[in-house]
Amino acid sequence: MNAGQAKQKEAQLLLPTYDRVPLVLEHGKDVYVYDVDGRKYLDFVSGIGVNALGYGDKAVLKTIAKQSSRLIHCSNLYFHEFTAELAERLTRISGLDRVFLSNSGTEAWEGALKIARAYAKKTARLDAEPKWRVLAMSNSFHGRTFGSLSTTGQAKYREAFAPVVPGIEFVTFNDVEDLKQKFNDSVCAIALEVVQGEGGIQPVSREFLETARALTAGSGALLLIDEIQSGLGRTGEWFAYQHYGIKPDVVTVAKPIAGGLPLGAIITTSEAAGALTAGMHGSTFGGGPLVCAVACTVIDQIEERKLLNSNRDLGKYFVKKLEGLQKKHSCIMQVRGLGLMVAAEVNSADLAKATVPAMQERGVIINRTHETALRFLPPYTIKKKHIDEVVKALDATLSQLEPMYPKPKAQNVPEAELLAQGSTH
Ligand SMILES: Cc1ncc(COP(=O)(O)O)c(C=O)c1O
Repeated sequence: MNAGQAKQKEAQLLLPTYDRVPLVLEHGKDVYVYDVDGRKYLDFVSGIGVNALGYGDKAVLKTIAKQSSRLIHCSNLYFHEFTAELAERLTRISGLDRVFLSNSGTEAWEGALKIARAYAKKTARLDAEPKWRVLAMSNSFHGRTFGSLSTTGQAKYREAFAPVVPGIEFVTFNDVEDLKQKFNDSVCAIALEVVQGEGGIQPVSREFLETARALTAGSGALLLIDEIQSGLGRTGEWFAYQHYGIKPDVVTVAKPIAGGLPLGAIITTSEAAGALTAGMHGSTFGGGPLVCAVACTVIDQIEERKLLNSNRDLGKYFVKKLEGLQKKHSCIMQVRGLGLMVAAEVNSADLAKATVPAMQERGVIINRTHETALRFLPPYTIKKKHIDEVVKALDATLSQLEPMYPKPKAQNVPEAELLAQGSTH
């Protein structure tokens, strides 16, 4: 089936939720994917941050083969041997205490929000109304289910579904004064991504995160951190919050955890976990034996192959290379990155949009987020030569496209603002 045929059929059969790239992927090997015509693409999307070990990883395939022949699913009514194995790993690498397993990122985030409200009820003084407000961030993204949508600080995702969950207020991301002003004793949680992913790879400032930690700790509210995109090694630490030397009460992960199979996790302190009792939360599929066995293998592989160190080093190398390109192409307004979570912000949404298929023509897959950010989320298994290949393709692409997309006036980012922000890596 070619892309035209797939598009035509899907147009008749599917809900119209995806505006797909005309590319029918068939198989993958290492850091490359191949389409149905056998064309090879260097994959710097990796399933939007999912395929951390690339394609066809031997250890992952071995675990899938072994475990799928033994037990794929069993109900959470029963024990299986990999739940505690995985929870041991997740608590060790996060420095937290307890785990709940879900099927996706948004589901993990829903659970985190439920914990915040339940914890507030459990710890409320008898003579006081339980805390109930959640402070979420502008420009954030937490998923598509109602709680996640309600905390997502981008109106375009929420508007069609309003009214959303009540009690959520948005703080301007990285505006410490706004955070302090909106925080009071009625707040049960501050909710944020350490590096906003869909928001264009925007890292939280140290001062903002430290303030959020101090305010919540001081009042008995919870700090909820969404590391669904940034977690499990992508930024060069197991969790992006570890770059800042703070610990949240609750962190959520998903995307890369199970080698491409669907799994999410909530990891919490014992204190926060104490808000839940049997029956208050659950899932039919969440944390089955196959996905948990694979997740153990993924974490072990990241450790054995020292991929945190290499993600950190490769990220710095990548940002440097892109900054080099920025000197040549004035359309690149800013380069941002933490480990292998990298973006090049260009000065026009149309240019960013045109860049993605033009890169594909050159055999490189990237995507665009937040209109003007070219986003790079490669597998952890890339080498410097792959970064060189992407930078070379981007150089050629921008040389070709830049003259066709002059800097639009309305979208100009003030020069002074950019200079003040600088590159982060
Ligand atoms: C930070 C963040 N949170 C939550 C989600 C939602 O995850 P999922 O699509 O697995 O529900 C995403 C997905 O992109 C994400 O990047």
